[in-house]
Amino acid sequence: MNEGEDSRYQLPHLALEVKALFTGYIVIVGLGLLVAGAQILLTHGMADGEFGLSVDDIVYSYYGNRGDSRLEAKLNGSMKDKASIEDRTSIVRWVHEDATASAWDTEINQIFQSNCVSCHGVIPGLPDFNKLESVRALATIDTGVSIDSLTRVSHIHLFGISFIFFFVGWIFSYATGISSQSKAILVAIPFVFLFLDIAAWWLTKWYPAFAWVTIIGGIGYSLASSFMLLCSLYQMWLMPHRHSCILNPPTPSRTS
Ligand code: HEC
Repeated sequence: MNEGEDSRYQLPHLALEVKALFTGYIVIVGLGLLVAGAQILLTHGMADGEFGLSVDDIVYSYYGNRGDSRLEAKLNGSMKDKASIEDRTSIVRWVHEDATASAWDTEINQIFQSNCVSCHGVIPGLPDFNKLESVRALATIDTGVSIDSLTRVSHIHLFGISFIFFFVGWIFSYATGISSQSKAILVAIPFVFLFLDIAAWWLTKWYPAFAWVTIIGGIGYSLASSFMLLCSLYQMWLMPHRHSCILNPPTPSRTS
């Protein structure tokens, strides 16, 4: 027990109603963390088409897949024999010059008319290349998450998750047998990693190399908060009945 610490404010000695309150919170927040983990695996985890979270997933989600547009990929792939090299080059150049409507009217529409619409415009299920919109839809380059949704998700995370960490840390601050310094570090870690995580989303939007920082940030605050949650539960419910444990046994209450 730290000097000057009142044993009434130690997890093993808390009043039953306070333990009930803390436990209810811990159980629900713990569940929330598990569900959040599953959600990350199912959305970001699948971004590269393979199950499991990888650096590629993060890069695809935030930076985008900035290789060729689908139109270019096809023109260099299964549609390669459908147009001459000159026509294919004109199409690719047009895509890179923002697929403008004026160039479509003067030149590009004609190329599609003579090479593509005999199938794309007739065969059901294939995109109709008589229409500029359907060509454009395949000419876009995926630049990842938009600034709009990045801003929205960032502020929700900053406000929402810091609330969770606040209470997790507060409950854990009543833990006993752990030095004040160690507790201070554990309480601070989730906030630091949360900041790193969100900063890394923004950095990854422009520099894909930062993708690994979001993974480290996520793992860092998950581990630190899981430890605090489990340790708090342990100290409230198991520690009072056990005297041989990894953590020091509780000191008998001074007031009783
Ligand atoms: C002889 C018929 C035919 C012609 C001509 C043709 N295509 Fe296709 N195209 C297809 C078929 C069939 C598919 C679906 C199979 C595949 O993706 O390879 C397809 C698929 C595509 C796709 C992928 C569509 C998607 O929804 O992902 C693109 C892009 C495409 N073609 C571009 C072109 C362009 C550009 C031209 C003209 C230079 C062209 N095609 C000419 C038959 C044709």
